[in-house]
Amino acid sequence: MTGFNEDTPVSPRRLLVTGAAGFIGSNFVRYWCSRYPQDRVVVLDALTYAGNRENLAELEGRDNFRFVQGDICDRPLIDNLLATEHIDIIAHFAAESHVDRSILGPGAFIQTNVVGTFTLLEAFRHHYHSPAATATPTKLFLHVSTDEVYGSLGPDDPPFSETTPYAPNSPYSASKAGSDHLARAYFHTYKVPTIITNCSNNYGPYHFPEKLIPLMCINMLLGKSLPVYGDGENIRDWLYVEDHCSALDAVIHRGQPGETYNIGGNNEVKNIDLVRLLCGIMDELAPDLPVRPCEKLITFVKDRPGHDRRYAIDATKIKTELGWTPSVTVAEGLRRTVAWYLSHRPWWQPLLSPEYQAYYRQVYL
Ligand code: NAD
Ligand code: TYD
Repeated sequence: MTGFNEDTPVSPRRLLVTGAAGFIGSNFVRYWCSRYPQDRVVVLDALTYAGNRENLAELEGRDNFRFVQGDICDRPLIDNLLATEHIDIIAHFAAESHVDRSILGPGAFIQTNVVGTFTLLEAFRHHYHSPAATATPTKLFLHVSTDEVYGSLGPDDPPFSETTPYAPNSPYSASKAGSDHLARAYFHTYKVPTIITNCSNNYGPYHFPEKLIPLMCINMLLGKSLPVYGDGENIRDWLYVEDHCSALDAVIHRGQPGETYNIGGNNEVKNIDLVRLLCGIMDELAPDLPVRPCEKLITFVKDRPGHDRRYAIDATKIKTELGWTPSVTVAEGLRRTVAWYLSHRPWWQPLLSPEYQAYYRQVYL
């Protein structure tokens, strides 16, 4: 079994993309549809608080695009989609994805991330081995995961590689680790082609306001305080979302089933330095800010329980085996991101709903 080869004329392919009304999935679908316009893309998304059909607005109405609202835990629905849409590739993004919410309520994380992934894998296994489906030459289950499954690094530890032992510390990362183990086990036990990717922190357009970078951008635009957890010295390895999409493209076309690929930007930045960078860019780009300079808004707040100190990715394998490297520097990516939030107020304003405000009060006040 090998991945899809870009040179092999297997197009048009048919993809089921789960969770594509969210941040990374919607960026991936936009990327895929512009690069491979002949392929059919079926999106399955439950439209939780993090899902937003607006994120896919520019694709709606295309002949080879379909949006289905539904839950990845709904096995009959998935069986039906795999059979009737003759799906070749499942690109699985759907998840509960925010660490702070996993601390407040872990149940949904176990349900979607573990039970949901299990349900998809079971459906894929039956679809893969069904006589009707064997006419299609290649199939793939791409399981999109996170570097957080590897736990926390000390200041002098080497970055996470694909052989770093799993050591998840939050209910979110533990549930993603469980789903990764299932994807791996299905390859070994049932011989179905699964590939796992573990990526570092993404940022860019369409990022839901609860995450660090959009939260800071939006709070600067509203003149609200910029809450930095603990001492602000925690480190994340930031990757512009388009680079994640191109990495997944490389994995789909050239990755080997049964393998894991780490994806990262080689951009380790301390949270406090990142927030200061964002403040500088916002001061420069925004004509009328309620408070300026934005740094005046920085406030240190109580730390997240079990807060991982440092993440860093060793992306040697995907670079040497699949020829992928990131193309957007942090300076450029942050600039593009700040500019996007500045010009997309009608996108983010409605997301600051009463539910969001209630969540915000629970975490920050
Ligand atoms: P997101 O929270 O922005 O989007 C998740 C999407 O999944 C939403 O559209 C939501 O409606 C949908 N969803 C949730 N539960 C569902 C269910 N039961 N059935 C169907 N759809 C459901 O998440 P994201 O940041 O785009 O992350 C996407 C994937 O990438 C996740 O698997 C996440 O673990 C992984 N990842 C994220 C990052 C990051 O920095 N954001 C980094 C590495 C990996
Ligand atoms: P986040 O975007 O939630 O991603 P993750 O926890 O998955 O890495 O947070 C990124 C970093 O920023 C993390 O160290 C927590 C920190 N953080 C803050 O300091 N303040 C905030 O308001 C948020 C949301 C995050």
